[in-house]
Amino acid sequence: MDRTDTMPQGELTVRIPAMPGDANANGDIFGGWVVAHMDMAAGIRAAERARGRVATIAIQTLTFKKPVKIGDTLCVYTSLEKVGNTSMTLSIEAWTQSRTSRKETKVTEGIFVMVAIDDDGRKMSLPPAAV
Ligand SMILES: CC(C)(COP(=O)(O)OP(=O)(O)OC[C@H]1O[C@@H](n2cnc3c(N)ncnc32)[C@H](O)[C@@H]1OP(=O)(O)O)[C@@H](O)C(=O)NCCC(=O)NCCS
Repeated sequence: MDRTDTMPQGELTVRIPAMPGDANANGDIFGGWVVAHMDMAAGIRAAERARGRVATIAIQTLTFKKPVKIGDTLCVYTSLEKVGNTSMTLSIEAWTQSRTSRKETKVTEGIFVMVAIDDDGRKMSLPPAAV
C-alpha cells in the first residue's frame, strides 16, 4: 500500500451517503452509483475551470479497489492534472468514510476527461486560468 492509498489526493468535491436503494444483489453498492458521483465531481471541478458548461468525453481508466457498504459516506476528491485547448484531464478518487470510525478507505479511482462546451453543446476553447 503506497501513500496514495492512505491519504486522499485532491480537493473534496462531493460527499453523499450510500443508501439501501443504491445496493446491488450482493448487498454492496452498485459500481454505477459510485461512477456517477465521480463523474459529477469531475463535472463540478471542470466547470469551475471552464467557467461554463462541460461534458465528459472519456473515462480513460477506472479501478474498483474495494466495495462500498450501505451507510458509508462516499467522499470524492478531484485533481485537475492537465488542461488542453478544450479538454481537462482529472484524477478522481472515491473514498468511503464509515459511520462508526470516520476512517477513510479508497474504493475507486479513475482518470476522467472533460471538454468545455458552448450553449449548443459544441466544444469550445478554455478561458485562461483565473488568477
Ligand atoms: C464533447 C464533444 C462536444 C467534443 O467534440 P469532438 O468534436 O468529439 O471533440 P474532439 O474529438 O475534437 O476532442 C476534444 C478534446 O477532447 C480530447 N479527446 C477526445 N477524445 C478523447 C479521448 N478518448 N480521451 C482523451 N481525450 C480525448 C481531444 O484531444 C481534444 O482535446 P484538446 O482540445 O484539449 O486538444 C462531443 O464529443 C460530445 O458531444 N460528446 C458527448 C458528450 C456526452 O454526452 N457526455 C456524457 C456521456 S454520458
